Amino acid sequence: MKHFASSEAVTASPVRGPQKTQKDDEDVMTEQGFKRFRRRAPADATPSAAAEERPLSAPASSVAAQLPATLPEPWDRIRQVPFDAEADGSRCLPLVSRFRTAPASKSFDLLRTRLLHTLKARGWKRVAVTAPAGGCGTTFSAVNLALSLARVPGSRTVLLDMNFRRPGVAQAMGIPVQAEMNAFLSGAAPMEEHLLRPLPSLAVGLNSAADQNAAEILHSRSCSAALDELMLRSGADTALFDLPPVLEHDDTAAVLPQVDGVLLVSDGTSTTAAQLAACEKVLAGHTQLLGVVLNRARKSDCPLH
Ligand SMILES: Nc1ncnc2c1ncn2[C@@H]1O[C@H](COP(=O)(O)OP(=O)(O)O)[C@@H](O)[C@H]1O
Ligand SMILES: [Mg+2]
Repeated sequence: MKHFASSEAVTASPVRGPQKTQKDDEDVMTEQGFKRFRRRAPADATPSAAAEERPLSAPASSVAAQLPATLPEPWDRIRQVPFDAEADGSRCLPLVSRFRTAPASKSFDLLRTRLLHTLKARGWKRVAVTAPAGGCGTTFSAVNLALSLARVPGSRTVLLDMNFRRPGVAQAMGIPVQAEMNAFLSGAAPMEEHLLRPLPSLAVGLNSAADQNAAEILHSRSCSAALDELMLRSGADTALFDLPPVLEHDDTAAVLPQVDGVLLVSDGTSTTAAQLAACEKVLAGHTQLLGVVLNRARKSDCPLH
């Protein structure tokens, strides 16, 4: 139906001389014909008077200037910070991703794949990483797992240091703390102000201040609201929360209603079966135990040796 030619087609049509035929009239809508057609068309189908008066040849830039400016999406507004997983200077914690072929790096990739399968199958995203006791390697595991997750193309990973007893993610990654976790969890600082992006696909929430009121902070309604908003606005596929030891503080128990599951890190050189059983008891009925990570495993314990 040629009559529904757009106005752009009209202006682009050459003006025809007196030799035009009736067939031409049928095939190509003239400018006059188009105006007549628009007068006949119902009111809601015609462009507004303002639009009609605007010259059709108006430069694109002047039209674009009238549109409302769009903000980049929240993830892109998170500040990027320099991070070099290969450097070893300011950190005390080994990051295994620089040895991609080393068994430790392969173990984290295997853990990542298994974790992603479980999370995807159940539609889960929030994972607490904790241990029976301090020093088992919670931060070591959380950071290396986050780096492994961040290597999945097109994904978004968030790692939050929610250990108010002995925060460690900032030091582990060699990134200076610029905003306190407490301000974010209390709702005083928005996600974009608190988080930092060491990699395009990884955002971290750092913490440097030990706080004796940790359990109360983690129990609070503002903490739950801040985490809900973080998940919604960041569009994160996976969020890892680095938490204090289960058997030493009730902080982890306080945050359990906010997570989908727990990864328990056991130290192959010191964690006992009784400790693991005690942790299972604390978690039972509150959340799912997604798995037990064996850190500092002896060579014979490691499936990739
Ligand atoms: N598998 C490992 N290989 C080498 N060093 C490790 C390993 N696991 C932990 N560490 C070191 O042990 C110390 C305690 O680990 P960390 O992750 O901070 O424990 P947690 O967070 O459970 O208290 C850190 O200095 C860390 O670098
Ligand atoms: Mg730690």
